[in-house]
Amino acid sequence: MGKDVIIACDFSSKQEVFDFLDKFTEEKPYVKIGMELFYGAGPEIVKGIKERGHKIFLDLKLHDIPNTVKKAMSVLSGMDVDMCNLHAAGTIAMMKAAIEGLTRPDGTRPLLIAVTQLTSTSQERMEDDLLIKEPIDKVVMHYANNAKVAGLDGVVCSPLEAGKVKEACGKEFITVTPGVRFADGDIGDQVRVTTPAKAKEIGSDYIVVGRPITAAADPVAAYRRCVAEFCD
Ligand code: C5P
Repeated sequence: MGKDVIIACDFSSKQEVFDFLDKFTEEKPYVKIGMELFYGAGPEIVKGIKERGHKIFLDLKLHDIPNTVKKAMSVLSGMDVDMCNLHAAGTIAMMKAAIEGLTRPDGTRPLLIAVTQLTSTSQERMEDDLLIKEPIDKVVMHYANNAKVAGLDGVVCSPLEAGKVKEACGKEFITVTPGVRFADGDIGDQVRVTTPAKAKEIGSDYIVVGRPITAAADPVAAYRRCVAEFCD
């Protein structure tokens, strides 16, 4: 499976994201559109970025009753994105319904991956707020396995969990990992981070990198550094 670097384009307007992408004259990076950009710029932003030749991971993290998710996914299936996601906490029934909705009449569909536990959720918050008393690693692996049972393609997880997910769910099961920082860079608000090189070693298929590229003095050089460390 080809490894790739996905740039988290966390901007709130079309102008900002296009100005940013204009800097890339030689390559067409894989772009993550999150809630901020999708809600700020509207669904047309997907078409606009696609028309510029980029692959798109639409990170909207759906979580609702199965029928609602199925119908929402069938709308997304018409947007020509390459990857989209949902919360595994919505249950296996919801994930199966999502795949049904996402599958186009010709049998094709974007990759569908699941968020297990958000990396912002600590053991303590999971126990006290969600009343889930198991160790968080076990919960992550259980949700990953549910995603596999439902027929999904993989999960979003910490790079530190990617190796274990591959062991449990098979090497074809995709791991998409945010929380990536250069060895000499700022960590910012991320807690459990790894370098692109380490993420490669652990077995991530895709790294999602935001501020180390978007806030760099030279974003193209920062992107190339990620590609050199992670893909080559
Ligand atoms: O700027 P930074 O590299 O921290 O951006 C990481 C991106 O990955 C952000 O868009 C963030 O929302 C997303 N993400 C994350 N942790 C998760 C899931 C998504 O950082 N568990």
